[in-house]
Amino acid sequence: MKARKRINAVLALAGYSLYRSRRGRTYEHDGLITDHNHEFVRDPHFESAYRRGVQASHVDYQIEWRTHIALWAAFTASKLPGDFVECGVNWGFLSSAIMEYLDWNKLNRHFFLLDTFNGLSEDLLNEEERAAGAAENSRKMVQRGKYNADVETVRNNFSGWQNVKIIQGAVPGTLNQVTTERVAYLHIDMNCAAPEVAALEFFWPKLVPGAMVLLDDYGFPQHEPQKRAIDACAEKLGVMAASLPTGQGLIIKPAI
Ligand SMILES: C[S@@+](CC[C@H](N)C(=O)[O-])C[C@H]1O[C@@H](n2cnc3c(N)ncnc32)[C@H](O)[C@@H]1O
Repeated sequence: MKARKRINAVLALAGYSLYRSRRGRTYEHDGLITDHNHEFVRDPHFESAYRRGVQASHVDYQIEWRTHIALWAAFTASKLPGDFVECGVNWGFLSSAIMEYLDWNKLNRHFFLLDTFNGLSEDLLNEEERAAGAAENSRKMVQRGKYNADVETVRNNFSGWQNVKIIQGAVPGTLNQVTTERVAYLHIDMNCAAPEVAALEFFWPKLVPGAMVLLDDYGFPQHEPQKRAIDACAEKLGVMAASLPTGQGLIIKPAI
């Protein structure tokens, strides 16, 4: 005990501290280490939604807390009038989890799912993203099946749910195929600044008051160009993104 105190005192002088995790109580996934309450992982409703996400992607990304935030945002959005949109779907992990969680067929909403289904649209990368190797990385992800390049698997995955519109092609070119004037939930997850900003600008006037905008990549260090671009866009719109400890960003459309 004394030794720990001494070590902590020395570390504190250097500006560091030792994190004391409590065995069995610590959440340690996806860049997040915390003892904060995460009993949601044992909630059967959460578990079945999460399992449905894993079924869609064939991989457990161990993103329980991110999924919890997405389910919360989607649940809250389900109390508002308006449809759901995801830009950047891949195998459909999060959207599948949401549809399972909300018992989608009882909800009578549309879910628009937009993706190239072939990785990033390289012509949309900015200099910084290009220099960081985003184009090569995306090609590798497609080759390895980490980015889905077979839209039919996605169609099959979502076939049990009603009112799902899968839109293949690059955002922003496909945005006008989203045929709704009221959006309650918008998930932006394209790992590329330009289409993300374009999606936020396009949907902003269509977002109903209180609508949820969840930005999957916002706080992740490898996606800083996206954060800067989204922050600039949010400032123009007169709002602010909350930087969540999960790495996600969250904007709520103000009621006025
Ligand atoms: C990280 S994945 C999305 C993960 C997904 N939200 C999930 O729940 O698993 C990023 C996706 O964005 C797509 N994408 C990248 N740029 C795009 C663009 N300009 N238009 C449409 N989709 C794009 C990629 O094809 C890839 O499937």
